[in-house]
Amino acid sequence: MTAKVISGKEVAAEIRAELKKKVEELKGKGIHPGLGVILVGEDPASVSYVTSKSQGCEELGIYDELIRVPADTSEEEVLNMVEKMNNDPKFSGILVQLPLPGHIDEEKVVNAIAPEKDVDGFHPINQGLLLRGEECPLPCTAYGVQKMLMVSGNDPAGKHVVICGRSNIVGKPLAAMLMQKAEGANAICTVVHTRAHDMSYYTKQADILVAAMGVPEAIKADMVKDGAVVIDVGVNRVDDASKKSGFRLVGDVEYDAIAEKASYITPVPGGVGPMTVTMLLYNTVECAERIGKV
Ligand code: GUN
Repeated sequence: MTAKVISGKEVAAEIRAELKKKVEELKGKGIHPGLGVILVGEDPASVSYVTSKSQGCEELGIYDELIRVPADTSEEEVLNMVEKMNNDPKFSGILVQLPLPGHIDEEKVVNAIAPEKDVDGFHPINQGLLLRGEECPLPCTAYGVQKMLMVSGNDPAGKHVVICGRSNIVGKPLAAMLMQKAEGANAICTVVHTRAHDMSYYTKQADILVAAMGVPEAIKADMVKDGAVVIDVGVNRVDDASKKSGFRLVGDVEYDAIAEKASYITPVPGGVGPMTVTMLLYNTVECAERIGKV
């Protein structure tokens, strides 16, 4: 079997086209989605993420504002910026780019964001609501994985989804989402991680396998069942002297060998990656709609 490729770029483009219409519709009702982003420091990867978020907002007609401050900005100043955005109706969504410099307590900052504007879905109130199956902003990468499954015709209902990785950003929220009694969910979820004595024992049982460990090509072909759907969340840099940059990007799965036996697979790059920013825009619009309804 040769796997069909689920293109994150294509799925993201479809969602963005729908979102653009939705933004227009909301504006007609006097609801203006807006995203406030706080970037502390000059980390190149963070600058690049933030730029793609701003570009996405511009493309969809979402108001966006970026506050860029130096790496030595105090925790108190960052908390004050968050508080201002919490109280500013221009913003339906607030995002503080992570990681933050070491002298700032990330948890304190994330917890200071108004839960109804928490477009990352990282606030403990939203984590609790997610676990209970109540409406809340969903963590963007996990939400992107769920959308890719649905759009590609791989409804997880009744299937065994094995998630490799237990991060608060992907593994845990994805398991919480897919186990719900809800459309796009109803799956049987197993979460495994790098401390498993024999990870392949679990991965071989997956109808849908999600790799989100951040370990380059950790999932080998003999760990995957024939015909499985394989979603690769990993984005890892590995040295490659043949590239001008000196590196190339690989996922958490051995792509070429697994593409020979899976039914569907996501590439890296161009798979889950483009979905994350798109779902952030989606959350910004959904938050605006929810706040506007109150
Ligand atoms: N840094 C890298 N990815 C993310 C993300 O999705 N949200 C935030 N806030 N920071 C990040």
